[in-house]
Amino acid sequence: MPTTLTSKSSYVLAVLVATTLAVMALAATFQTSTANADAAAPSAKVINGTTVPNDPDQWPYIVALLSSTNPLSQFCGGTLVAPTWVVTAAHCGSPNYILIGQKNLAGSGGQTIQVAQTIPHPQYNADTAYNDISLLRLAEPVTSATPLQPALPSEDPPPGAQVSIAGWGNTSTTADIFPDELQEATVDVFSNAACESAYSSLYGPGLIIGSSLCAGHFDGGDSRDTCQGDSGGPLVYDSPNGPRLAGITSWGEGCAEEPYPGVYARVSSFVGWVLGYTGKAAKPAQSSVDFGPISVLAGAYVKPITVVSTGSQPITIHGIEQAGLDFAVVADGCSGVQLAPGAFCNVDVAFDPSAVIARSGYVKFVTDAPTVPSIKVNVFGSGSGFDSKSLKLTVKQSRKAKRIKKRRNQILARYNVTFKPPPGTPRTVMCKGTVRVWVKIPRGRRLLISKGRVKANGSTCLAVVKVRLPKRVKRKKTRVTANFSGNDAMIAGRVAKTLRVK
Ligand code: ARG
Repeated sequence: MPTTLTSKSSYVLAVLVATTLAVMALAATFQTSTANADAAAPSAKVINGTTVPNDPDQWPYIVALLSSTNPLSQFCGGTLVAPTWVVTAAHCGSPNYILIGQKNLAGSGGQTIQVAQTIPHPQYNADTAYNDISLLRLAEPVTSATPLQPALPSEDPPPGAQVSIAGWGNTSTTADIFPDELQEATVDVFSNAACESAYSSLYGPGLIIGSSLCAGHFDGGDSRDTCQGDSGGPLVYDSPNGPRLAGITSWGEGCAEEPYPGVYARVSSFVGWVLGYTGKAAKPAQSSVDFGPISVLAGAYVKPITVVSTGSQPITIHGIEQAGLDFAVVADGCSGVQLAPGAFCNVDVAFDPSAVIARSGYVKFVTDAPTVPSIKVNVFGSGSGFDSKSLKLTVKQSRKAKRIKKRRNQILARYNVTFKPPPGTPRTVMCKGTVRVWVKIPRGRRLLISKGRVKANGSTCLAVVKVRLPKRVKRKKTRVTANFSGNDAMIAGRVAKTLRVK
């Protein structure tokens, strides 16, 4: 498809020429792949992707950006985030049209829509590719496809997560091969630190910043990446809340070239700016803050809360109200602050576990906005006095124990101790700690005879303890007390049962 190829290359060059201040380092990364000599991948799509089936359910929100040359040709990708809004990369410039609903550029059935307005991010920097994001306002709404939601900070893919990329960009690391059919691949998210260390050895420090997101997959002939022509297109993360637009294809050193992952604009860093145009009200980045596993040993625990202004107008946070007795806002970076669209502020919430059992409450942000954002704060953990009645502990002699007993005379019993956490308790908090088995010995004393670690087992927690009664305890019926304790008060509890020992 020579027409597309030429216009793609010349488009990338036009962008380069326009950025007269472009530093050599970054300019190199935007060049077409002809400069990339040592590429190893034999055949490739995206780079080592697969053809997306022509199914309306797959990548329904992906768009091709078209320049108005005749015939219209694709030079970048983009993502529908609202019926009249597409998110793309700022370095893609101003397209005349977008094409949606068509996987095969040479096919038919898609909708071509005129772009009414291009809004590059006000801090887009062509030298560094910082803030490489822009919004395209469409002349008419897309009715045929459901938009993809941009990721909130709490919906960001963690390092190591698998994410999906797609585009009509170059499929070769050694030549210019632009497919008609949409290509997709899965890649792994890199930590910003790992990405920065790869790129800083090449170009010096500072190209990877908080609002960058890096992803790639290095595996010899199966190394995967986006490439020239994929820019502006989506990196999608299947977050616990559903699929999210987490990244926008921006740049990279070569394509699929170890150790340089693809660099994407981190959408969650710009979600306020995006939602400001696409029309949502101000809200906190998280609706709930969970203190997670708590040790009873130490003093105060602190959790940060980020508030994003997602309105299209600046908003003022006049103050913070809190409801709930046992926690406190200990650092307040929000009260009295005016937030521009997309701006953030932070508050820290803390509580002292020795004073708390398990509570929840709210932190409310008092603003001029029509909706008053508030965040639920969940607190788990305790000092002494956790209500162990809510733990249902059961002790059962396992069948296996009888067999063990026959074979080896030493282990007299083996018991499974299980319990169900109280409703609403995080499993990671509950299934931790140690089961200790005590027996009573003469003169009212107790003897520790066995210990077992508590582990998660389906929806319950399980500890397997092997009991061998010492010579001092000779009775056939022995009262055994299993005490649940550990460094976590949530699993404190006690169960007593008479066990038969033969
Ligand atoms: N800047 C390129 C474009 O305009 C995208 C490059 C992506 N490169 C990469 N190695 N992931 O299409």
